[in-house]
Amino acid sequence: VKRRPYLLTHKRFRDVPNRLKDAVAELIGVAAEDVILGNSATYGIHLLANGLPLEPGDEVLVMRNDFPTDILPWLGLKKRGITVKQLPSKGPVIIPAELETAVTPRTKVVCLSHVHTFSGHVLDAEAVSRICRKRGICFLLNLSQSAGNRAIHVPDLGADAVTCAAFKWLCGPYGTGFCWIKPEIRETLEYNQNYWINVMSEDELKNAGDLDLTADKSARRWDVFGTANFFNFYPLTVSIRYLLSIGIDRIREHNDRLQEMFLSGLDRKTWDLISPEAAGGRSALICFSHKNPAENERVFRELVTRGIYPALWKGILRISPHVFNTEGDIRRLLDELGAM
Ligand SMILES: Cc1ncc(COP(=O)(O)O)c(C=O)c1O
Repeated sequence: VKRRPYLLTHKRFRDVPNRLKDAVAELIGVAAEDVILGNSATYGIHLLANGLPLEPGDEVLVMRNDFPTDILPWLGLKKRGITVKQLPSKGPVIIPAELETAVTPRTKVVCLSHVHTFSGHVLDAEAVSRICRKRGICFLLNLSQSAGNRAIHVPDLGADAVTCAAFKWLCGPYGTGFCWIKPEIRETLEYNQNYWINVMSEDELKNAGDLDLTADKSARRWDVFGTANFFNFYPLTVSIRYLLSIGIDRIREHNDRLQEMFLSGLDRKTWDLISPEAAGGRSALICFSHKNPAENERVFRELVTRGIYPALWKGILRISPHVFNTEGDIRRLLDELGAM
């Protein structure tokens, strides 16, 4: 392309992001014109954190020990007199009853992960949505650990906004993500972001004279700069299309089968399961720990030397078998764990 830059036509500048929006829309059950393209999950949270009309004394509720993406973007609001509460939870994730007792008339935003990165526990997103809707609270749900491994239909989840990193379960390149914000809320955003490609039509680009800001409040207005991000957004589109062509439910069945195999083979005399045991409550993340948690770091390092790459978050081991993993992978992991 660098040798043939004339291939980067206006049409491609529009088509590459639009095709990605179509794929995301199909993935999460929203209208393509309401999808906002970002470079991370954090991007979407910043749009709301910086753009919502929050007043001094208003409250934002997040969960203590949630992934930092859900917490950090709000903390800068403290300077404006907005309270950010990091709610403790009894279990690994907040349950609706805990949220219900924590909200106050000043609560304006609740921001939580659908699947908790550090434990694999799943938020009851529908119940949280109901609590928030009754009180006019904006509920922002982070789909980074769920989209791509379980069917997502945003209208059923009921969140007012969702955000997602696309370089995890969606297998996209690093530096990709997207969000969706309910149009009525999106239209209240006051955020000084005016990127020429997003806010000017082709006709306006041809005209001479002073520029003025558009009153356009469509989602495209909030797309990340460099929206026709060919090297990132084209492969992400292909990846989401590929996952959709397999079927997210089929992917989930495959991942569940691998999980079942791992859990039934895991020697409980040596290992504790941290993520949910019951099939109905599980996410695609399996978190487990040696009975002596001090051993986890050593186990992690030894697995890596054998070409097996779990995650080690907060001292706990985590595996995330996905569409590209096989029963052979799980067998090998169980064999290695058995020998440790
Ligand atoms: C729940 C969750 N959100 C977000 C991210 C990534 O955040 P970002 O896309 O903002 O870099 C991760 C993990 O990397 C995550 O587990």
